[in-house]
Amino acid sequence: MQNLHGLLCFFLVSAMAFPWRSQAQEAADLGFRQAKNYEGSSDLVNVQYHMGPVLASPVVNLYIIWYGQWSRTQQATVRDFVHSISVPSLPHPSVSDWWQTVRLYADQTGSNITGKINLAGEFHDAGYSHGRVLARTTMQSIIKSAAGRGMPLDPRDGAYLVLTSGDVSVQEFCRAVCGFHYFTFPTVVGAIVPYAWVGYSGTQCPGMCAYPFAWPTYSGKPPPGGSSGGGNNLMKPPNGDAGMDGMISVIAHELAEMSSNPLVNAWYAGDDPMNPTEIADLCLGIYGTGAGGGYVGQVMKDTWGDGYNVNGVKGRKFLVQWVWNPSRRRCFGPNAMD
Ligand SMILES: *[C@@H]1O[C@H](CO)[C@@H](O)[C@H](O)[C@H]1NC(C)=O
Repeated sequence: MQNLHGLLCFFLVSAMAFPWRSQAQEAADLGFRQAKNYEGSSDLVNVQYHMGPVLASPVVNLYIIWYGQWSRTQQATVRDFVHSISVPSLPHPSVSDWWQTVRLYADQTGSNITGKINLAGEFHDAGYSHGRVLARTTMQSIIKSAAGRGMPLDPRDGAYLVLTSGDVSVQEFCRAVCGFHYFTFPTVVGAIVPYAWVGYSGTQCPGMCAYPFAWPTYSGKPPPGGSSGGGNNLMKPPNGDAGMDGMISVIAHELAEMSSNPLVNAWYAGDDPMNPTEIADLCLGIYGTGAGGGYVGQVMKDTWGDGYNVNGVKGRKFLVQWVWNPSRRRCFGPNAMD
C-alpha cells in the first residue's frame, strides 16, 4: 500500500506541530521515521514469506484502465514507464535495473517475480462509468465493467492497473493513500485477478503524492535545505508534469508490491495481514543514497535541472522510489552509490 502519511513526515523534520493529525497518522509517520534509516541496513526489518503466490509468470500481462480524462502525453509517460521495466539494454541506471530488486522475491516453488511485464491492453473509461466519487471497492466494479466491454480477464497471467484522472475523488485518496493494490473477488468480477489503483494527484494533492516535485501548500514554505543543493529543493519533473511524474513513482511502488504480494499472502513485514508493510512501504521517500528526513537522497539532474534516478525507453527519465532488497537487508536502487 502507498501510505501518504509517510510522505507527510517529510515536513515534520523541523518539529512542526500538526495538531489535527490522528493517532493512526502518527503511527504511520513513526513507520516512516524508521523507514528513512532502512537505506542503511537494518536487522529490525523482517520481511517474511507467507506461502502465497507472487507474479511469477514468464510474461505478466498488464492491462491499464484509464478512468476519466487523460491527455495523450500523460498516457505516453505511463506506457513508456511500463515498457521500460522489461528492456534490459537501457543505459544504467535504468528502470529494468530497478526492477531487478523486485525480482529477488520468489515463491515457495522457487519461481521468481517476472522479468517481463507486457502491456497487453488498455481500456478507456472516459465516460466515468461509476461516477467521480469512488469507494475503494468500486475499483472491482470498474474492472468488471471493462471486462464486460471487451477487456480480457486473465487470472493466470493478468494484472490490472486502474488509473483515475484528477477530477475523480477516491476514498482515502490524498488523505491516507496515494495508491493501493488488492485483488478482485470472483463474486464481484468473476475471477480473482490482482489489481492496483493509482490516482492523478496533480490537482488534488501534489504536495502529498507528487513529492518531491511539489510541496504541500499548508507548509507555507519550501522544506528545509534551500537551494544550496543536498537539501529539499523542489525538483523539476523529468516528464514535465509534476502530477504525472509523481504518479510514476506511486505506480512503481504498487507494481512492486502487487508482484510480491498479489493476494496479500506472500511477502510483507509485520504481524498484521490486515495492515501489511510491503517491500515498497519500507522505502517510502527513499530515492537515492543518504535519503532521510525529507531528503530524497542522491539522484541525478539532467541539463534542464529535472530530477531523476532511472533511465527509460525513448530517452525518458523517471524518478522512482527504492524497494527493500532482501539479500542486502536494506532499501536499494540502481543509482545507489555504495
Ligand atoms: C530469485 O530469487 C532468489 C531468492 O531470493 C535470488 O537468490 C535470485 O537471485 C533471484 N533471481 C533473479 C533472476 O533475480
